[in-house]
Amino acid sequence: MADPGKIQHSRKEAHDIAMSCSDDDTKPLIEYYNKTAETYDKYLDVTGKDIGALEYSKVIEKHQPNKDVRILDAAAGTGILGQKLKRLGYTNIDAMEPAIGMLKQAQTKGIYCDYICDMIRPDEKTQVPDDTYDVVCVLGGVTFACITPDSFPELIRITKKGGLFTFCMPEYTTKTQTIDPKFLQDNVEADLQALVAEGLCSKWSKEPVTFYDASQEHGKEKGDVYILIVA
Ligand SMILES: C[S@@+](CC[C@H](N)C(=O)[O-])C[C@H]1O[C@@H](n2cnc3c(N)ncnc32)[C@H](O)[C@@H]1O
Repeated sequence: MADPGKIQHSRKEAHDIAMSCSDDDTKPLIEYYNKTAETYDKYLDVTGKDIGALEYSKVIEKHQPNKDVRILDAAAGTGILGQKLKRLGYTNIDAMEPAIGMLKQAQTKGIYCDYICDMIRPDEKTQVPDDTYDVVCVLGGVTFACITPDSFPELIRITKKGGLFTFCMPEYTTKTQTIDPKFLQDNVEADLQALVAEGLCSKWSKEPVTFYDASQEHGKEKGDVYILIVA
């Protein structure tokens, strides 16, 4: 039931606002996440359903089974991925999120060690020092007006050498992207190839995942988790 007095989160509305943002000014989208943070989990109906976090966390466990490693959940939102990682036994996870309202929701769950209010931008350094994390993850954040592929070098900078930079992208983003072709699968994968050619990563791979589509627009959702080994 809708909670009167609170602005209900809607993926379609978030998408429409994202589309109205320019690359240089994504404040309206951050503001939308701030305003709808309290209703975000309820909208996604995450109880008993996987919006990708469960499958993604299992891929991370397969590639990095050591539960003591330092992990960053970038674009952490309300902490849905962090919750799944914690349930698998990971003990050292930080959250990064630009929308303070979302970060506060994550904080109420008590899953992360550190809460970093910052954003990933192309050609800008976050407050995180070089080579900090063993694993960096992004669920639902590599998309228009959020994290763009030209920001991947910043996520790689904060990952330790030999560590993993990973992100999960739904198929509908990579196959039906009409507004910004940089998110099309071939283009994203060409960017990853370029990161290998530049020597920032030694190799990349991907694993298919299937999960529940909260917006009900795309049926059962498919996607890929991309895994890069940082050089
Ligand atoms: C679709 S939500 C995903 C949140 C969470 N990972 C989840 O799966 O529920 C996208 C999140 O990315 C955040 N975001 C937007 N721009 C960002 C940026 N440049 N860097 C990091 N996070 C960003 C938004 O504030 C929002 O919380």
